[in-house]
Amino acid sequence: MTDTLLRGRTLSFVRWPEAIDDQGAWSYEEDGGLLLRGGKIVAAGAYADVERQAGEGVAKVDHRPHLLVPGFIDAHAHFPQMQIIASYGAELLEWLNTYTFPEETRFLNAQHGRRIARLFLDEMIRNGTTTVAAYCSVHKESAEAFFAESHDRNMLNIAGKVMMDRNAPGELTDTPQSGYDDTKALIAEWHGKGRQHYAITPRFAITSTPEQMEMAGALAKEFPELHIQTHLSENHDEIAFTRELYPQAEDYAGVYEHYGLLGPRTLLGHSIHLAEREADIISETGSVAVFCPTSNLFLGSGLFDYQRFRRREKPLRIAAATDVGGGTNYSMLRTMDEGYKVIALQGEKLNPFQSFWQITRGNAEALSIADRVGTLEAGTEADIIVLDSRATPVMELRMETVKSLAEELFLLQTLGDDRAVREVYVAGKPSKSIVAA
Ligand code: GUN
Ligand code: ZN
Repeated sequence: MTDTLLRGRTLSFVRWPEAIDDQGAWSYEEDGGLLLRGGKIVAAGAYADVERQAGEGVAKVDHRPHLLVPGFIDAHAHFPQMQIIASYGAELLEWLNTYTFPEETRFLNAQHGRRIARLFLDEMIRNGTTTVAAYCSVHKESAEAFFAESHDRNMLNIAGKVMMDRNAPGELTDTPQSGYDDTKALIAEWHGKGRQHYAITPRFAITSTPEQMEMAGALAKEFPELHIQTHLSENHDEIAFTRELYPQAEDYAGVYEHYGLLGPRTLLGHSIHLAEREADIISETGSVAVFCPTSNLFLGSGLFDYQRFRRREKPLRIAAATDVGGGTNYSMLRTMDEGYKVIALQGEKLNPFQSFWQITRGNAEALSIADRVGTLEAGTEADIIVLDSRATPVMELRMETVKSLAEELFLLQTLGDDRAVREVYVAGKPSKSIVAA
């Protein structure tokens, strides 16, 4: 297989940027090179240095003047919700009952699942997202469809069939035993196959009986290396209903705590309205609070207190996500634009380096996959995207007055979307051009 040598302006993070001038937090090469071999980055640095390490027959791709950054990571999305995104006028529980649950019943049909999985991953790629933590429907078939499609593209994705056995239509419920059995069969078939990762996925406390929570906890014990994904404290009515259903629990997070579902691989979608005790146990267990700004605004759920969560004495690990189809956009650039506004509404700021850290290395760390993706470091997997800061007339005009990398990143976040993503390398293979064709 021939090696590939990419040339462009390379940007990758080594840690959280404390401030806008914290240059030790990232590495930036004005004329950078990335040498790709066998799906991995084998050398990275100044172009001249990397070129010297490249062999004779190397295929050179010149992406100048564009930026090469690690593929974006989306820490929470629902692939079966593509055809209900932009559904009008409801808060969480009504939105679930009116739009989401009826839609998800369609995923019993494997062919439908495969079609939507294909279109969903096309959309991820078009937006520069190379890894997503995805919820499937309750049907085993939907997870099979998602993984088959993901495996065909050689994407590193994390997904699971939702476990839900109450408070939903009959066609959309499993049982504690069938949820356990189907999950176990899917783990055996898909976890570790190529780049696929299985996530144990009890949807949220409202749709699982205590018996099902026990089964989810049993799976978590049997498979401690797996991710667990669920929802937490998104909306006040949801919290009140959960307290009714689990009266013995100290609080909402206490439900997941009781069943052994908190830990460093647990992704807690939303986590907006947290009591201090809940934030403490989330921190102590190393669980991850997932910030879903477009969804939290769209459903009127609330404002995630990003900076306070980060700075508290027991800080939270934080990821960022689209939460499509409660979320309203597939782009992590659009997501962080809305995230910036949510944080601004609370009198705080998230600077552009922090934003780009979050959707690359930050999300990779939150998903415990930073040794594999989320940076451009040699030895990692070659999920790389090419960003064009002049992708639209409006961006081109604004770029005339941009004087620094920080300003350029902020422009990309504020005005950019899928049009700013020129190419996407998935394990070294150019994929956006394929999706577009
Ligand atoms: N809580 C439980 N299920 C869902 C879902 O599908 N979307 C959102 N936003 N919240 C949820
Ligand atoms: Zn969700």
